[in-house]
Amino acid sequence: MNKNHNRLLEHSDSFVHRHIGPREEELEKMLQTLGLRSLDALVSVTVPKDILTEGALKLGPSRSEFEVLNELKELASKNQIYRSYIGMGYSDCITPPVIQRNILENPGWYTQYTPYQSEIAQGRLEALLNFQTMVIDLTGLSVANASMLDEGTAAAEALAMFFAMSGRDQSRSFFVSDSCHPQTIEIMRTRAEPLGIQLIVGDHQKVDWNKSIFGALLQYPTTEGTIHDYRAFIEKMHQLGGWVVMATDILSLTLLTPPGELGADAAVGSSQRLGVPLGYGGPHAAFFATKEEFKRQIPGRIVGISKDVNGKAAIRLALQTREQHIRRDKATSNICTAQVLLANIASMYAVYHGPEGLRKIAERIHLLAVLLNKGLARLGFEMGDTSFFDTVCIPTGKKEAEKITQEARRRRINLRSLDEATLVVALDETTSRQDIEELLSIFALGIDKRLDFSIDDLLGEAPQSHLMKDPRKSTYLTHPVFNSYRSETEMLRYIFRLQAKDLSLTTSMIPLGSCTMKLNATSEMLPVTWPEFARMHPFVPLDQSLGYRAMLGQLEKMLQEVTGFHAVSLQPNAGSQGEYAGLLVIKKFLKSKGQQHRDICLIPRSAHGTNPASAAMAGLKIIVVDCDEMGNIHLEDLKTKAMEYREQLAALMVTYPSTHGVFEEGIREICSIIHQNGGQVYMDGANLNAQIGLCKPGEYGPDVCHLNLHKTFCIPHGGGGPGMGPIAVAKHLAPFLPGHPVVFQKDENAIGPISAAPWGSASILPISWMYISMMGSEGLKRATQVAILNANYIAKRLEPHFPVLYKGKYGYVAHECIFDLRKIKDRTGIDVEDVAKRLMDYGFHAPTVSFPVPGTMMVEPTESESLAELDRFCEAMISIREEILEIENGKSDRQNNLLKNAPHTAEQVMKAEWGYPYTRERAVFPTRWVRENKFWPSVGRINNVLGDRNLICACAPIDDYVSH
Ligand SMILES: Cc1ncc(COP(=O)(O)O)c(C=O)c1O
Repeated sequence: MNKNHNRLLEHSDSFVHRHIGPREEELEKMLQTLGLRSLDALVSVTVPKDILTEGALKLGPSRSEFEVLNELKELASKNQIYRSYIGMGYSDCITPPVIQRNILENPGWYTQYTPYQSEIAQGRLEALLNFQTMVIDLTGLSVANASMLDEGTAAAEALAMFFAMSGRDQSRSFFVSDSCHPQTIEIMRTRAEPLGIQLIVGDHQKVDWNKSIFGALLQYPTTEGTIHDYRAFIEKMHQLGGWVVMATDILSLTLLTPPGELGADAAVGSSQRLGVPLGYGGPHAAFFATKEEFKRQIPGRIVGISKDVNGKAAIRLALQTREQHIRRDKATSNICTAQVLLANIASMYAVYHGPEGLRKIAERIHLLAVLLNKGLARLGFEMGDTSFFDTVCIPTGKKEAEKITQEARRRRINLRSLDEATLVVALDETTSRQDIEELLSIFALGIDKRLDFSIDDLLGEAPQSHLMKDPRKSTYLTHPVFNSYRSETEMLRYIFRLQAKDLSLTTSMIPLGSCTMKLNATSEMLPVTWPEFARMHPFVPLDQSLGYRAMLGQLEKMLQEVTGFHAVSLQPNAGSQGEYAGLLVIKKFLKSKGQQHRDICLIPRSAHGTNPASAAMAGLKIIVVDCDEMGNIHLEDLKTKAMEYREQLAALMVTYPSTHGVFEEGIREICSIIHQNGGQVYMDGANLNAQIGLCKPGEYGPDVCHLNLHKTFCIPHGGGGPGMGPIAVAKHLAPFLPGHPVVFQKDENAIGPISAAPWGSASILPISWMYISMMGSEGLKRATQVAILNANYIAKRLEPHFPVLYKGKYGYVAHECIFDLRKIKDRTGIDVEDVAKRLMDYGFHAPTVSFPVPGTMMVEPTESESLAELDRFCEAMISIREEILEIENGKSDRQNNLLKNAPHTAEQVMKAEWGYPYTRERAVFPTRWVRENKFWPSVGRINNVLGDRNLICACAPIDDYVSH
């Protein structure tokens, strides 16, 4: 046996060289371009020596896809999938296979970024417009956004919105019905506390109206299943100048009078049961609908219709500059990444089933619930005559409840215990007649009876509806899109038609700085839809989720190792939520030391908008720290401000490497200045891709950081979500990590929940687990080195054409770089927007535009892009620079040119008349490779101002989609 034999015996599908783009020989060539001998040499000129970690990561060797998938399958098999009738905002459902395979499992749908470049994102923008239309129709309100993170946080966003509308009046309270889902109530408490909002949790029928209340949250139907008519309550609240938000079950609204018709000011809820797997808690898209008058206060993103330069209807993110977190500390919400992929699935479910299909699904579930209710009454349970939709509440008595629960468990069934003597059963789309029969026989056994009647007997007694007295009469989903695609063939083609309008990673690299658009490998994605992971309710007894919890525990350990921190919480559902959670943890720690008066958060001017928005949500006051001419934190300014506020300093939020794309040399000093002045350091980990295996935040100063698993750890961006933003913390902060009222024992130290589910979006965590397990210690380090190499290679090739704005001490960048186009604009009138749109004609998505510096482009290639792709991108940029030179030289017109008119569509070039001062060929086939593989933008440049002036955020009449 020699070395060669050993090598031959290794698995043939080693993953590292599939994940990393450039081949060995290409790495050498690229290093030569930079004048460096090795990757280690590159690290020594980019990463400050005093933060380099000693020794290798302890994450084991690199492994093959086959091997690691088998190991995960083994873990997954430890999960016990019972039939769950737990409800509480989560219902099992049937994902139509045409949607599962062609959206959820299709990189043409899951690898895009948020649709900021609308001309090459019309597909998912249309799907999101359908989502908004569906939400508007079903809730009976006039505006909806394109998804929130989960029902609980959506309710908390409504609280924050009403609070802002009330003028942040802390003397008034907010009422929360005690019939809301328990996790929602706790999230409301978490959110209210730092803002100084008094919450009153109680019975909505016994409200003390003498107390000054600015708003209320009601659940419809309630967590126990009851449907109340809230009209009188809402009217009373309006008389007193307050607002009402209803947390609601979207499927029930096909049958119930919708919140808008009851007078509610807003409605929130989860769209999970519209075809999205349970996934042990997520990811799922929540929704937020409100009245027209509040459209500018709405959190998250709104999709709206405008027109392109040719007058064709085109869809885009509306009021984009008003996206909440861009208002920084004035924002009422920090939502950035939301749940786009899941919103698209829910909207496609509505498109596929249509209004009659949805109504039929709801009616079927209701009938099953009525039969169950009837059967239980016949068995002797006191069922009363409340209105319900799919959930029945059964007073059983204590002993009986225990016996029934035990018998159910024996048959692999989970029921919900509301209290010791009351059980709740929530039905769903997958429930069958046989299931009802089985449930009845379990309840019969619990009271020592035998089931001596059948479902047919119950049906023979003409069961009556138990919906409220005046069920829904208004129509919904009347737009043709919800009434056209009933056969699978038609649906498949609709999905692919939309997909073809979107540029995803399946077409070309997406070099978005700060977004880390790396490979989302197929073997990482496969486990997401395994039934062992996909079909588990988040609130099952913990002994049923052994596989999940083993995987989550291992992932936590891996992330601890990578960051050098002591503990990890996997609860936050996005980077923004990690920031918010981390700051609350810091506050709770400071409180435990008697330092609750510390309320100042220092934030560098270059920080991402979510940082100040999160700090404001956490009740902190923001003081901005300047940056120097190199883009680094201005050390003197930091020192001055830290000293000035030393009595009140709570935290510094710092992004590392900085949002300017360099490793600041002074990071250790920055952290110690904060510590010396009594504060804690929060590190925004969006740029962790430049650190793994080289340095660990836990070793050089920060106390807490979030990790964007949807950047560094391969969770796909899904066109704007899902995300995951777990936080890693030092030992002294570990006791304060978020708790969860339903699943964990109450812990006085823990901050309250910040997500509806205890492990956030658990079903996408296998993606990161797979990635880390396959890459191993060496693979991860190499990925970091190549990410830095790829960025420096692009910087070097493009620098003669576009100046690089910031570099580190030795003239190198980190994993991304900023090109400065401001002088070009001064000379030619061509701005970053024009270059971004022209890149579409070359088949590329633009880099990040005007963040963190206006008038610049930030490029992050990631380690997954091959040399060939990097070169193609560089050639496109160089060719565009030559086009700009023609304007500079007076050869091209300043207004009527290839860039100002970009992107060019197929429709435009096929027109008989061609009024442009350049050829059709130059417009759409600017290079040889574009000719061979052309991606056509489906609309021309979109008029943003027009769209914002006339906000239309639901599907318009079909005529508007036809070009004029
Ligand atoms: C530097 C930085 N911080 C925070 C965030 C927010 O993360 P998320 O979108 O997951 O909420 C982003 C997202 O782009 C970012 O680039």
